[in-house]
Amino acid sequence: MSDSGVPAASTSVKVVGVVGCGLMGSGIAQVCAEAGYEVVVREVDTGALQAGLGRIQAFLEKGVKRGKVTPERLQAVLGAIRGTTDVAELAPADLVIEAVVESIGAKRTLYAALDAVCREDTIFASNTSSLSITEMAAGTRRPDRFVGLHFFNPAPVMKLVEVIRSPLTSTTVVERALEFARSLGKEPVRSKDATGFIVNRLLVPYMLDAVRVFEQGLASATDIDLGMRLGCGHPMGPLTLLDFVGLDTTYYIANIMFDEFREARFAPPPLLKRMVQAGMHGRKSGRGFYDYSQDPPAPVAGLV
Ligand code: 3HC
Repeated sequence: MSDSGVPAASTSVKVVGVVGCGLMGSGIAQVCAEAGYEVVVREVDTGALQAGLGRIQAFLEKGVKRGKVTPERLQAVLGAIRGTTDVAELAPADLVIEAVVESIGAKRTLYAALDAVCREDTIFASNTSSLSITEMAAGTRRPDRFVGLHFFNPAPVMKLVEVIRSPLTSTTVVERALEFARSLGKEPVRSKDATGFIVNRLLVPYMLDAVRVFEQGLASATDIDLGMRLGCGHPMGPLTLLDFVGLDTTYYIANIMFDEFREARFAPPPLLKRMVQAGMHGRKSGRGFYDYSQDPPAPVAGLV
């Protein structure tokens, strides 16, 4: 632990670049700073950057209120994160974690820019939850130094990181990624590169099935969620979890998984599609299976 209250990082990585300061990118930047790394986080514009940095500050302030974080540590963690809108500022990074929009085109463009500014030995890691690590790696000048590092939402709280190896990733880079995840206080698991990896491969069909059960009128949203919370000890029921992850995100991932495996269980049910079309994206849009303008959130009527 350093004087600032931030533990010294324990891997050969010193500077971490994070690209994207949305929900996942801001959480990842926070986790890295908390572990003692110097973090440079890049967003496309100042508005998005300020929103992301504000999210980190709000999480830490909540931690102070809960007595989990000291005010000194809050300052030390925020002080370890530097925001930028310029990709060139990622040049000193030993590891770059990409958490931008799930679009292969956007990611390819970004990796080309990163290839041009980063050192040859810098490792690239994608936080993608559904796109192919192999496809992204093959488009860079460092396919052997490219790995998947998949964090879970909320990243500062969830203990798991999936480390994904493509057929091109070197064993040394996989080992370094595992060591890095452990240095963040996370528990890494290894997976090969097939869309959804371990967790989403199991979680997405489960959430889609919950929508089907609801759509077929078997039970109310509240009872489906209560059933899985109290019957199986899950922290959130599947429809609450869908609202939490985002219906649009889940719909997008499900389509990619269906495209990869061509199995009916990955096909998004019509109700999910209609809700996404209606802009009911869950918590972030204020409405999904529940209405978040009410406290506690109330089930939305008239969905089926
Ligand atoms: N600062 C510091 N610590 C905080 C904090 C803060 N601002 N907010 C929460 N915490 C800590 C709490 O102190 C607590 O730690 P403790 O267990 O050591 O006391 C822990 O985080 C949990 O906090 P709470 O108990 O207050 O919160 P809840 O009980 O409301 O739990 C939750 C919130 C962690 C989100 C829980 O509901 C949960 O685990 N839900 C499921 C989340 C999940 O499944 N995520 C994965 C989604 S899938 C995904 O991300 C993959 C993607 O590709 C789609």
